[in-house]
Amino acid sequence: MAKAKSLHICGECGYKASKWIGKCPECGEWGTFQEEMEIKTGNGISKNPTSLLETKKKVFSFNDVVVDENFRYKSNISEFDRLLGGGLVIGEVVLITGNPGIGKSTLLLQLVNEYTKYGDVLYISGEESPMQIKNRGERLGVGNKNLFLMSETEMQVIYEYISAKKPKVVVIDSIQTIYNASYDSMAGNPTQIRECALRIVELAKTLNISFFIVGHITKDGKLAGPKLLEHIVDAVFSFEGEEGLFYRILRSSKNRFGSTNELAVFSMEESGLKEVKNSSEFFLSEREEKNIGSMVVPILEGTKVFLLEVQALLTDMTIGIPKRVVQGFDRNRIQILIAIGEKRMGMSLGAKDIFINIPGGIVMKDPAADLGVLISLISIYRGIPISQKIAAIGELGLRGEVRKVFFIDRRLRELEKLGFKGVYVPLSNKKEIEKNNYNLKLIYLKNLDEVIERMV
Ligand SMILES: Nc1ncnc2c1ncn2[C@@H]1O[C@H](COP(=O)(O)OP(=O)(O)OP(=O)(O)O)[C@@H](O)[C@H]1O
Ligand SMILES: [Mg+2]
Repeated sequence: MAKAKSLHICGECGYKASKWIGKCPECGEWGTFQEEMEIKTGNGISKNPTSLLETKKKVFSFNDVVVDENFRYKSNISEFDRLLGGGLVIGEVVLITGNPGIGKSTLLLQLVNEYTKYGDVLYISGEESPMQIKNRGERLGVGNKNLFLMSETEMQVIYEYISAKKPKVVVIDSIQTIYNASYDSMAGNPTQIRECALRIVELAKTLNISFFIVGHITKDGKLAGPKLLEHIVDAVFSFEGEEGLFYRILRSSKNRFGSTNELAVFSMEESGLKEVKNSSEFFLSEREEKNIGSMVVPILEGTKVFLLEVQALLTDMTIGIPKRVVQGFDRNRIQILIAIGEKRMGMSLGAKDIFINIPGGIVMKDPAADLGVLISLISIYRGIPISQKIAAIGELGLRGEVRKVFFIDRRLRELEKLGFKGVYVPLSNKKEIEKNNYNLKLIYLKNLDEVIERMV
């Protein structure tokens, strides 16, 4: 007979305890334990006495494993396929997260329409009715006899339907609305999310069905649910930015079948999300010939180069402590760059409010942006205009030395492609640069103090 047992489960890592505890002994998080009723239908020992035979069916010799020709499903959204690492792998589970209204359901509906060329596709929504989905689909130009819509939230029903019908691709929109009736807790609860996700992964891996799972995020931008969810899925893609922006940035923070930290830019239009292939042009539009306090930097995100504009502004401090307002760049890194600027370039910034902004909503993590950030600060501090056809590449050391960067060739090619005339580059990259020809004026810097005399 089924037995109900009260358990306290950590929402972060899934650690189980018989009584409530404040701090999880497994992951160290505080206040994450919630009481759950767990219904056990057995003693944990397999009921099937011939289970060894069953187990053997799950074990394959490496040489006998057959790789399907259509190992990756392709869509017509090539930027999304690039993010996946060349298409959606059969049996892959992809988690898509982002702020409300950012475009998760829109993108998935556009994608699944594409995957119908490989067979049946099932879109399960616990948030919208088939009519609402169809309504959106018609606006997006979606429609196919292989596309099936299901409005369901109970995991067992979903599990049985998928096991019987075996569609090629399934969308679960969203994991927070699905629940497993064996657990006495509401949908969206960490235990429910974990249990449902485990069942989805089991379906994906045993039946070779690819899944997209939509995951909502909390106010502070974290995935609403246990950390385990990110561990068990194959890829995690997150929409960055806010709903109001015209364009949406999708970043891969985990990918078992492709490189991580890849970025793809989309614009939100009436007919759905459109990929922005020439994203550098996109971020650099509306610029003047010469500008004070702005510099272009070629940033590597994953394997792709993006040209971004760094903007700096200084004002006299009014009261209290000086402000350091930073958008799109690491705040601690800016503090280091300010210290380098003060010590090595003689800038007096103690009584200034400093504002650094990277327009477009991208958060730069590449240290090769250092030089560009500092040059824009010098430019605004000294009132020196900089040509907007010049860019800067280089990481800065505390002595003011301009350090070597990786993938210099890709960065220079992107600048060339977009009609840039020149670029500040680290002297330590010279050997590598001279192996190729670039239609760019190369301004080599060993140290930051050479910048002023060479500013163009
Ligand atoms: N007619 C339209 N023209 C242009 N954009 C539209 C139109 N209708 C909706 N949108 C855009 O689609 C967005 C909603 O997208 P979608 O429903 O896919 O988001 P979501 O991430 O799934 O949201 P949620 O988390 O609430 O489910 C809106 O914010 C809006 O920007
Ligand atoms: Mg949605």
